[in-house]
Amino acid sequence: MFYRGRRLRTTSNLRDMVRETHINPEDLIQPYFVVETNDPGYKKEIPSMPGQFQRGIKSLLNRLEKIYPLGLRAIILFGIPKQKDEKASSAYDENGIIQQCIKRIKDKFPDLIVITDVCLCEYMSHGHCGIVKNGYVQNDPTLELLAKTALSHVKAGCDMVAPSDMMDGRIKIIRQALDQNGFKNTPIMSYAVKYASSFYGPFREAAESAPKFGDRRSYQMDPANKKEAIREARADIEEGADIIMVKPALAYLDIISTISKNFPYPIAAYQVSGEYSQIKAAAKMGWIDHDMVMMESLIGIKRAGADLILSYFTEEILKKRS
Ligand code: PBG
Repeated sequence: MFYRGRRLRTTSNLRDMVRETHINPEDLIQPYFVVETNDPGYKKEIPSMPGQFQRGIKSLLNRLEKIYPLGLRAIILFGIPKQKDEKASSAYDENGIIQQCIKRIKDKFPDLIVITDVCLCEYMSHGHCGIVKNGYVQNDPTLELLAKTALSHVKAGCDMVAPSDMMDGRIKIIRQALDQNGFKNTPIMSYAVKYASSFYGPFREAAESAPKFGDRRSYQMDPANKKEAIREARADIEEGADIIMVKPALAYLDIISTISKNFPYPIAAYQVSGEYSQIKAAAKMGWIDHDMVMMESLIGIKRAGADLILSYFTEEILKKRS
């Protein structure tokens, strides 16, 4: 006698019966890029991210009208402002692009979970995630601006904030700001374990947020480090994070697995722009099967331990299921 693993693989129904990992609509979060523009119908495809667009508010609302009925549960918003300066003023302007966009979305889709990326890089003339002095990104002076930004998003009506800047102590400051202003029930999804990754390349084109000098290695994590991921996750949980994110996903499955085993909290993973673009490019060349690789990559991320996945494939998965 020997083990006959093939018995349970003989038919499609049997394979379905014993499948261990599933991708459900409620696991997925679709990112959107919203542009502050006088043409609200503005829509421009991002060359390095086929199928993803920079959109004016009206164009995004039109898109949501199509996708929401397919089972879309949650989105994360990135803003591209008209004005950038050295203190990211439009990030926390109550009439800023994200603040306006939140109101318009929640008006029409009150049940859709609207998450906002809280960062300053898209709003800074130099493209860094914090205040720069003497060529160095300053930690503590940046915290106040992050808290102001998060609070302005929540006041506009978003359901959750997701700080992605990687300054130390920002979860604490943001939690305090929300609590003191009557938003004790608004959760924080922290980009707790965020690596200085070259897989963000296409995003920086999409969000127009590439740093004008230097790089982000003095605040984002070294891809070589794993113990540090535990320290970062622990710190953010102690400061009040509700959901812990690991980013990127596919090259960091061991990190997702470690974090999900160590912390009894919901774990999110961000399948980032470069991961998406690689699949799109290889599929376009005819070298891989687009839909199969898309599903396999998401299954891998979930199997590693992610409960939630931020993915540019969300819309496509919802369309495929319906
Ligand atoms: C903002 C931010 C970035 C991403 C999400 N939030 C870029 C960066 O840190 O440079 C990357 C997302 C992606 O690549 O899809 N700080």
